[in-house]
Amino acid sequence: MSVPSIRTALPGPKAKALIDRDSTVVSPSYTRGYPLVIERGSGAIVEDVDGNVFLDCAAGIAVNATGHSHPDVVKAITEQAGKFLHMSGTDFYYEPQVRLAEELAAITPIAGGVRSFFGNSGTEAVEACLKLSRYASRRQNIIAFLGGFHGRSMGSLSLTASKAIQRQGFGPLMPGVYHAPFPDCYRCPLGLNTADCAAECLDFIDHQLFAHVVTPDEVAAVVIEPIQGEGGYVVAPDQFLQRLRELTSEHGILLVADEVQSGMGRSGKMFAIEFSGVEPDMMAIAKGIASGLPLGVTVARAGLMAWPPGAHASTFGGNPVSCAAALATIKLLKDSLVANAAAVGAHLQTGLRSLMEKHPLIGDVRGRGLMIGVELVRDRQTKERAVNERNAVVNAAFQRGLLVLGAGKNAVRFSPPLVLTKEQADIAVRIFDEALSEVGRRR
Ligand SMILES: Cc1ncc(COP(=O)(O)O)c(C=O)c1O
Repeated sequence: MSVPSIRTALPGPKAKALIDRDSTVVSPSYTRGYPLVIERGSGAIVEDVDGNVFLDCAAGIAVNATGHSHPDVVKAITEQAGKFLHMSGTDFYYEPQVRLAEELAAITPIAGGVRSFFGNSGTEAVEACLKLSRYASRRQNIIAFLGGFHGRSMGSLSLTASKAIQRQGFGPLMPGVYHAPFPDCYRCPLGLNTADCAAECLDFIDHQLFAHVVTPDEVAAVVIEPIQGEGGYVVAPDQFLQRLRELTSEHGILLVADEVQSGMGRSGKMFAIEFSGVEPDMMAIAKGIASGLPLGVTVARAGLMAWPPGAHASTFGGNPVSCAAALATIKLLKDSLVANAAAVGAHLQTGLRSLMEKHPLIGDVRGRGLMIGVELVRDRQTKERAVNERNAVVNAAFQRGLLVLGAGKNAVRFSPPLVLTKEQADIAVRIFDEALSEVGRRR
């Protein structure tokens, strides 16, 4: 299929009709950046209801790890669906769930044995991390990071500090949550130069929070995204994660890695925290794990996940069809897609960085593997955030047949399916270049 191929004004007539129907019956809380109405997808290519063909660098918010409807995943889903759809792994046993727990034990970077708890989404995976952290430590408080996104149910929303609108009107949230600055070295929250940034953000926890707000012996866990996703695709420096591990270990605090967005091969390693060599105590995994079927998993050191029957469970969690999809996904990731994410990700990042020469709007290009953020600024010196321009670029890309999403206030995220080829990455760079030119001309 030739990509992109835009045959109608966007949205086309069929897309427009569906959006009109949606507008009266679906929750208006969803953030629709542009009017895409999908009909079908294959690999990194998406066709809309009017026959327009797009290159997908959004992947359903970093979910379609193996691409749209990968035949191996579809086969696994179909075979399992033909056997049984549901039996509740909370009450009974079935092989796909056990096998998936075994696979996760083999691929998660936690030595000495782990156990898995199965839910249906990222937020549920984080909720289980919160509950288990409190249960296992018998401590109440949690430290999270400004800019972080951990979900929207009440517990995980209490950790989320990405956009204030996500919390506005929903308080009071869970007590006992404290936020520390995230080491965003491009825009240091403490106004330091890059060399000191990671260390100083860590010192904020050690010398400010622990000294003035909460004693470390009452902190159950520190929860961190090794690469902030919704916050703008910001990579935590390895040294910061290493020092955070030391600090948490020193005080008996659990380290929880939220790899909902950065995990399952997206970063070019199976999990982004592996770049730092740090072993967390617990991980939240979702999004890419089942290539699009709903599944969230909390993986924890076996000794920690020692809660009794009835302490935590989920009717749908670990659905057998989702588990089958996850097993097929993990095989594809191990066989080739993690390596592809690393290789094509490096290629894409180089291409996007080369656009900096031509487009002063680009302030920063960063990321790992196929998790790349391009931050747009009005001025490279002041780093004034180019919020409207970012939205305009995302829209201009859509009009040209490239699907990307915003992240944070003013970054564009590239989170394509991990099957993206180098040729497709070049197409993405070309269209993004054109979109930047169009918005640059309008300024
Ligand atoms: C890092 C992170 N954690 C948790 C979540 C919540 O996942 P879900 O939307 O599946 O509840 C997200 C979603 O974007 C995420 O990026």
